[in-house]
Amino acid sequence: MTRISFLFTIVFSVIIVCSSCREQPADTFDTYGKKADSIIKLMTLDEKIGQMSLFTSDMSSTGPTMRDDYVDLIREGKVGAVFNAFTVDFVRELQKIAVEETRLHIPLIFGFDVIHGHRTIFPINLGQAATWDTAMIEKSERIAAIEASAEGLNWTFAPMVDLARDPRWGRVMEGAGEDAWLGGLIAAARVKGFQGSSLSDNNTILGCVKHFAAYGAPQGGRDYHVVDMSDRSLYEWYLPVYKAAVDAGVASVMTSFNEIAGVPSTSNKWLLTDLLRDDWKFNGFIVTDYSSINELIPHGVAADLAEAAKLSANAGVDMDMQGSAFLNCLNNLVKSGDVSEKTIDEAVKRILVAKYRLGLFDDPYKYCSKEREEKEIMNAEQLAFAREFAAKSCVLLKNENNILPVPESVRTIAVIGPLADSKADMLGFWSGAGQAEKCVTLLEGIRNRTAGTVNVFTAHGCNVAGDDVSGINQAASVARRSDYVILALGEDRMMSGEAASRADIALPGVQMQLAEAIIKTGKPVVVVLFNGRPLAIPELDHMSPAILETWFGGTEAGNGITDILFGDLNPSGKLTMTFPLNVGQIPLFYNSKNTGRPINPENPYEKFRSNYLDSPNTPLYPFGYGLSYTTFSYSDVKLNKESFESNDQIVASVDVTNTGDRDGEEIVQLYVRDLVGDVTRPVKELKGFKKVLLRKGETATITFTINPADLSYYHQDMSYSFDPGDFELFIGANSRDTKKTAFSIR
Ligand code: NOJ
Repeated sequence: MTRISFLFTIVFSVIIVCSSCREQPADTFDTYGKKADSIIKLMTLDEKIGQMSLFTSDMSSTGPTMRDDYVDLIREGKVGAVFNAFTVDFVRELQKIAVEETRLHIPLIFGFDVIHGHRTIFPINLGQAATWDTAMIEKSERIAAIEASAEGLNWTFAPMVDLARDPRWGRVMEGAGEDAWLGGLIAAARVKGFQGSSLSDNNTILGCVKHFAAYGAPQGGRDYHVVDMSDRSLYEWYLPVYKAAVDAGVASVMTSFNEIAGVPSTSNKWLLTDLLRDDWKFNGFIVTDYSSINELIPHGVAADLAEAAKLSANAGVDMDMQGSAFLNCLNNLVKSGDVSEKTIDEAVKRILVAKYRLGLFDDPYKYCSKEREEKEIMNAEQLAFAREFAAKSCVLLKNENNILPVPESVRTIAVIGPLADSKADMLGFWSGAGQAEKCVTLLEGIRNRTAGTVNVFTAHGCNVAGDDVSGINQAASVARRSDYVILALGEDRMMSGEAASRADIALPGVQMQLAEAIIKTGKPVVVVLFNGRPLAIPELDHMSPAILETWFGGTEAGNGITDILFGDLNPSGKLTMTFPLNVGQIPLFYNSKNTGRPINPENPYEKFRSNYLDSPNTPLYPFGYGLSYTTFSYSDVKLNKESFESNDQIVASVDVTNTGDRDGEEIVQLYVRDLVGDVTRPVKELKGFKKVLLRKGETATITFTINPADLSYYHQDMSYSFDPGDFELFIGANSRDTKKTAFSIR
């Protein structure tokens, strides 16, 4: 037997035993860990370091170009995983090099940013969150995993769960908004969707929760900027969302670019080892963000790449994304004793275990099925789901005089604006392998719906950005010729996402001028907004009778939005991030503190109160807000008791009646306020919600059960518990419009 075939036999006999294991993460780690150890024993130090290195292919780029010799590196056994490489043929080609040309034949993992769909693109994540529908969110990730794995991928850099309270930050589009509890539910749903019931299935992929930690709180909303906050805020608001993904069994974690209180995450031993591994018992692998180890030098905590590599390996990083820091420096660091070989072995073990869990040692080409690639991508069922998801993510912000839905009597419609017919923008940022040409625009959706019955005119009006007003008059004359106008305004897809912070979050360019000119025609005008973040649009709100927030709806955006505009579906989305009135109010979020000098609602500009001289404290649209074509009324809240023991259940109920003339879904929300704490407590905290379909005229009793333990928080000594005392409980249609009652815990 040659040495190579001997190694093959060891590697593959290990695998065969494991391929039949059904997984529980802990058992999996133990079972596969032993197999991984037996491979590690055969590896040279350089081969181990190779497993800890991740490189991008040249198929697409998601960061600064750093090196382009990834194929040679794979051949030299210096790569453990590749990202930005997909399609069956390409993945097969690269995998073949790894398993046929390297000494130990260890297969590669293939990763990609599958953020809101792979080929079938779903609404951006902030829009998905507005459905408050965790089952739909999970299903969308299931479809994304099926499509991605049908094209050779087996790892996504998702879910992105960074809690965000600052809409200037462009990456709010990738997250679930400002609430940690809701964010945690959504994070878990996403992990389940990607990873399914077993990673050994051929259509499930490794998840990667990111960006650990608190990347969503950069100062000034400027991407990559410093994060500095109290431990209490970190524990109470920012960390639980990652923890929810870890508890749901996410297979990997990505470090964030930012520092927290002076320590960059990628070299933060407390964060990566003490908290994540020791306290949270995370046993998957930790990857850096793109060249984050190298960035420890400009951060100013490492003098050179070797020091940076040492800091991050010793902090607990297992895999270096794109920076070559491990590749270039770890060997010497081990020789000098700065990094122990045990640390390296543990990292490699975690990576090999992930490869076992995927079944890559059984069949390195497991995700390379031409048949799947043909059949399981963008099929009719997936597109139908994408259409429904696009519709359900829409949030109706305003609808004066029930101007929406579009009346059936309308014979001519003008669809105007820079986003009326823009295929690429429908994708939003992080559009995976989505193809612009396959997207349905708003204009196309409306034409599909009205073909033969309504004349549809269109005009561009102006660009999204820039100061060219030359098209506005012509757009206004198109509006004048029409019975009804739909005005598509907002941001383009590159104005949110990574490295896309805005200091001003108003409508860009001359779009307000376009809106004024169109509204001045006196025609019924509905504004359809496309954007990746909350916008500050008080003037637009003031002047337009109706506004529908549609985010970037993905492949089927135009059809889904049209279903809402024409009333084929009743809007049901609700905001998961506050829309401020102006930038000066930021950060503005619903679960704020009262302060010692709270604003006087009767006299909002009273001196010596916590207010502004030139702006109200209240937002334009609050967290949880969204209208329907029907109306709902809420009865007073009933509680099973007024005073509870610590082990009692608190049961709150309310009767919700659909008082309008059509069926509709309502998201009923429950909030709590702890009136006196050991530390100050928010004025409201979301503790429950139910999304219910009510037929017209129907009343349903909506019941919530919470436990006193659900009211726990971090005390001055950082102990986590609830206090006896007085509480308020609110149920309502959003964080502002609620019915209130009170209870106490003895
Ligand atoms: C940088 C981004 O911050 C991260 O979210 C992404 O996964 C990587 N680039 C890889 O594309």
